[in-house]
Amino acid sequence: MGRKMIFLLIMGVLGAYYLYTPLPDNIEEPWRLAWVTTRKNTITNLALFVELLGISHFTNIVVFFMSFQEVPPTSDENVTVTETTFNNVPVRIYVPKRKSETLRRGLFYIHGGGWCMGSAALFDTDFLSRRTADRLDAVVISTNYRLAPKHHFPNQLEDVYNALKWFLYHDVLDKYGVDPERIGISGSSAGGNLAAAVTQQLKDDPDVKIKLKTQSLLYPALQTLDMDLPSYQENSHFPVLPRSHAVRSWSEYFTTDRSLENAMLFNQHVPVESSHLFKFVNWSSLLPEEFKKGHFYNSPTYGGSELAKKYPGFLDVRAAPLLAGDNKLRNLPLTYVMTCQYDVLRDDGIMYVTRLRNAGVRVTHDHIADGFHGALSYHGFKVGYRMENLYMSWLSENL
Ligand SMILES: *[C@@H]1O[C@H](CO)[C@@H](O)[C@H](O)[C@H]1NC(C)=O
Ligand SMILES: *[C@@H]1O[C@H](CO)[C@@H](O)[C@H](O)[C@H]1NC(C)=O
Repeated sequence: MGRKMIFLLIMGVLGAYYLYTPLPDNIEEPWRLAWVTTRKNTITNLALFVELLGISHFTNIVVFFMSFQEVPPTSDENVTVTETTFNNVPVRIYVPKRKSETLRRGLFYIHGGGWCMGSAALFDTDFLSRRTADRLDAVVISTNYRLAPKHHFPNQLEDVYNALKWFLYHDVLDKYGVDPERIGISGSSAGGNLAAAVTQQLKDDPDVKIKLKTQSLLYPALQTLDMDLPSYQENSHFPVLPRSHAVRSWSEYFTTDRSLENAMLFNQHVPVESSHLFKFVNWSSLLPEEFKKGHFYNSPTYGGSELAKKYPGFLDVRAAPLLAGDNKLRNLPLTYVMTCQYDVLRDDGIMYVTRLRNAGVRVTHDHIADGFHGALSYHGFKVGYRMENLYMSWLSENL
C-alpha cells in the first residue's frame, strides 16, 4: 500500500469521525465543515504528536503545511497587488485599478492565526483583502507580524503598531491616494485582538496626528482572565476552535513554557493581587440574558503569583483590550464587532460591545446565530458569504 493510500485512509477515518461529531442543527453545510475540520485537525494533531515526540514545536509543523496555501502577490483585472515594508514590517498592498476622482478609503487589515501562524500571503487572507479593495474601492494594507514561538508578546503588537504608524504618515497616504479622514482598521480572531489593542494605543499617542475613523473586530480574542466563560463552556469541543487550542494559542502568545497553559486550562492563572481586574470580564454583569442562560457565575479562582511575575503580558491591557478602564475606552472610533454563536471567543466580543457602549462609543454588533469561529476567513462557506456581506456593507456605509 502506497503512502498516498495510507494518507487517504487516515483522512477518511478522521473525516468520518468529524462528520459523526454531532453538530448543532442550524449549522449549514455540515459536510463542508467536517472537511475543513478534518484538514485542520489532521495537521494540528500530527503537529502535536510530533511535538510530543520531542522533534519540533507544533507550530513549525503547522506553518510548514500552511506554507503550501501561500500565493504570490499577483494583480488581477481590478486590483494591483504589491509587497513592501512599512517601518521594516512586511505588508501586502491592494490598490483598485479603476480611476478615482477623489481620494480613496484606506483599510489596515490584520490576519488571524493565534499569534503563531497565518500571513498576508495565505490564499484566504489574500482573497479577502482583494475582495475588500475591489468591493469598497479602498486601498487595503494587509500586514504581517512576527509570530510565536520565536517571538512573543509584545513583538506581534509592536510590528502591527509600527506598520500602522508608517501608513498614517501624510506622505504614505498621498502616495497611495488615501483620504486621511477615512481610514479604518480590521482584524479577525488574533488579528481582531491586535486591532483592538493598537486602536486603544493610537488614540492616546500624541505623535500620531491622523486617527482612525473605524475599527472592525471579527470574532476577536480580547481577554485571558476567564477561560471558563459561558462561550468557552458551550463550545469547548466545537471542532474549528476547541477550548484546548484557544488556551494553547493564548499561552503561546506569552511564553513557550507550558506551565502557563496548564494553569489557564484550570482557569487558575490569575494571582489574587489582580482580582480587581475581574470586573472588566465579569460575564454575569456584561453579557445580555440570552447568553447567560443555564450558567451560574462562580467567583474567580486564583493561582500563585509566580506565573504573573514571569509572564506579566497576560494581565497587560495591550494583550487583553477588555482590561482597559472606561477612560481608555471613551472616544474610541466607530466600532463594528462580529461574533459567532459557535465560538469559544463569542463572549469576549459581546462583553467588549457592552463595555464600549457603556463608555459611550458607537458600536454596531452583528451576532451570527449559525456562525462559527473563522467562517468568514475560510473561503467557500455560505454562512461566510453572509458574514462578508454584513461586514462589507457596514464598512461601505461607515468608513
Ligand atoms: C472585476 O470586476 C468585475 C466588475 O465588477 C467583476 O465582474 C469581475 O469578477 C472582477 N474580477 C475579479 C478577478 O474579481
Ligand atoms: C460579577 O457580577 C455579579 C453581578 O452581576 C456580582 O455579584 C459579582 O460580585 C461580580 N464579580 C466580580 C468579581 O466582579
